[in-house]
Amino acid sequence: MEDKITLTITRRKFTEILMGLVAVFFASGAIATILKYLWPASSSKDTSVEVMIANVDEVPTGSVKKFMFNNKAAVLLHMPAGFRAFGSICTHLGCIAYWKPDENIIFCPCHLGKFDPNTGAVISGPPPSPLPAIDIIVKEGAIYALKWKDPEYVKTISFYAGAA
Ligand code: FES
Repeated sequence: MEDKITLTITRRKFTEILMGLVAVFFASGAIATILKYLWPASSSKDTSVEVMIANVDEVPTGSVKKFMFNNKAAVLLHMPAGFRAFGSICTHLGCIAYWKPDENIIFCPCHLGKFDPNTGAVISGPPPSPLPAIDIIVKEGAIYALKWKDPEYVKTISFYAGAA
């Protein structure tokens, strides 16, 4: 004996079910976005990484080396007081700032912003805030970038990823 079950569904019911599924799909995306905003992934993770920048002998005192850190342009400076590393994207409108040894500054050519190469602080010009500093370590003859000193501050800066 063969049992046949016939399911009859009206066009109207089918449309209601379809619209319900679409609504659930979009609602789940909205809920995920809200949860991600309330509990960002980076706040619960240790973002430390070791990115080798250079061997110590590649960067003698008074020289610099550009590098990428977390997909953002950065610069390592060997100052008389030691190594310093900063994101090199200007905090004004995102141009690339660079080391200007004759003036002992990090200089942004777009609107003549000047930064202190020891601290990243703004010396003059329109940049509203310092260059973001990067924690570094020197070990076994090489310099490594570890993490942004202030990851929350870095989130507020508009970087052009990939620019160097
Ligand atoms: S973008 Fe650097 S000073 Fe304006």
